[in-house]
Amino acid sequence: MNKTEFIVVAGFAISLLFHMTQTEVCPPSCNCESLGEMKGLHIDCSSRKLTEVPALPVNTKRLYLQNNSLTSVPPGVLDSLRSLEEVKIFDNPWTCDCHILYLKLWLEDASAPSLADIRCATPASVRMKPLGQLTGNELGVCKRLLPVKCLEFFWRDLILIAGAIVTLLLVAWALKLSKKLVCQIKLNQHNSRG
Ligand SMILES: *[C@@H]1O[C@H](CO)[C@@H](O)[C@H](O)[C@H]1NC(C)=O
Repeated sequence: MNKTEFIVVAGFAISLLFHMTQTEVCPPSCNCESLGEMKGLHIDCSSRKLTEVPALPVNTKRLYLQNNSLTSVPPGVLDSLRSLEEVKIFDNPWTCDCHILYLKLWLEDASAPSLADIRCATPASVRMKPLGQLTGNELGVCKRLLPVKCLEFFWRDLILIAGAIVTLLLVAWALKLSKKLVCQIKLNQHNSRG
């Protein structure tokens, strides 16, 4: 096999692997059916006690995730599903704090009707409320994280400022030293001449 052939074969193998991992593989715990002419997959992961959304093929057209133990969806997890047409994701014990915002916004875009079916399980203040009706205030439970973040920023800024001051002092010191050196060299030259 010459070099060009090797590159072609390797490229083909890599693209095949990519294709398989990206578009073909059915999540192990789900039933997948090809929709034939409609060019996509029907993926049924309902009633399987799933606690997280499995990795999904990009050509998922119908996605059933209802009646599981999902509490949240990490940001970005559903973004690759560009050909999605139907989602069922109700009957899950959703935790409706600020982390649920990704799912809420994604459903508003991708499948507004299924947002109406989603009810929160926790925290107690929003129990059984539809996610679609929650306001920013009700989802603001994670606000208490803010002071910690502020403190982080404060320390980071303090360290940056201290670093800048130390650098300035070092530069000033180096400049002074170099001037002294120049003077000494000049003095030495003067002395040696005289
Ligand atoms: C929900 O899932 C459980 C198994 O996790 C199953 O026993 C039950 O019948 C399902 N309920 C519905 C309404 O599909």
